Amino acid sequence: MTERIAQYIAEVQAFQTTDKSELEAFRIKFSGKKGILNEFFAAFKEVPNHQKKEFGQVINSLKVVVEEKIKMIQDFLESREDSNPIYGDLSRPGEPIKIGSRHPISLVKNQITDIFASIGFNVSEGPEIEDDWHNFTALNLPEYHPARDMQDTFFIQTDPDVLLRTHTSSVQVRYMEENKPPIRTISPGRVFRNEAVSSRSHCIFHQVEGLYIDKDVSFADLKQTLLYFTKEMFGKSKIRLRPSYFPFTEPSAEVDIYWGLKTETDYRITKGTGWLEIMGCGMVDPNVLTNCGINAEEYTGFAFGMGIERIAMLLYQISDIRMFYENDVRFLEQFKSSI
Ligand code: PHE
Repeated sequence: MTERIAQYIAEVQAFQTTDKSELEAFRIKFSGKKGILNEFFAAFKEVPNHQKKEFGQVINSLKVVVEEKIKMIQDFLESREDSNPIYGDLSRPGEPIKIGSRHPISLVKNQITDIFASIGFNVSEGPEIEDDWHNFTALNLPEYHPARDMQDTFFIQTDPDVLLRTHTSSVQVRYMEENKPPIRTISPGRVFRNEAVSSRSHCIFHQVEGLYIDKDVSFADLKQTLLYFTKEMFGKSKIRLRPSYFPFTEPSAEVDIYWGLKTETDYRITKGTGWLEIMGCGMVDPNVLTNCGINAEEYTGFAFGMGIERIAMLLYQISDIRMFYENDVRFLEQFKSSI
């Protein structure tokens, strides 16, 4: 009997198949109810006591090789199925791809640049780390000018000549230094001011500033350009210009749009007046043109500047400016459907 078992062990060890039904036949032959193993276990009862130990061990080793063989072939067949999923279920739906979304600041910035591009403005950019000349002095803000306090400045280390730009007017200075009129350019970008962070203001924000310089540019051109912009951007066609002060423009004005008083939100955002301030503007001060190498006798121009966050908050009804910088996906995902 021991010899027969040894033969079976050799047979099991030599067994190979890549076919599931052949494996099943093999399993039934050895481990089935009427299989070889059960046959030997039944015969075991008849074995004289003194041989039981030795005989038991041989049957057991047959049992072990059979089980190991079945498991090995099963594992192999399964792994082959896994690594070839393309031949599995071809009707299975594809893996979903996560689609990102543009940041609301970028959406609004793109919208603004598109509107001005349609009336001939190009886009100019400049460095965020600026020198005193481009951020202040060239813009009619000499050292110790009190209006410098209007924009609390971050200086880099202790060098008063190196600072983080407080507005993108600095880009306009660079553009005027490098280009001859006619100039029609807008400068979107990130700016920095040393202000306390709250729901309404932040030490980092974004601006779009515009500049138009040519012969005979007048205040009427400025007003008409802004009217076109507000119509395109907000669908509102009523604006008013309130006298204001900026060192680099003369005269200067603050632009309000008539938002209306239809809903409770309108009341809240316009503080019950229906009017909303959206930007500053004015005719470029001749001193600024001269500082940038443009003949102020020959050319005139206008400039304007607005905060992107403020406009995004208005359009999307966002009540806290800090949301823009927190990178909370629950906030950002809401802008997914936009292009
Ligand atoms: N630079 C001004 C600011 O940051 C905005 C402005 C630009 C005003 C151009 C007038 C003309 O507040």
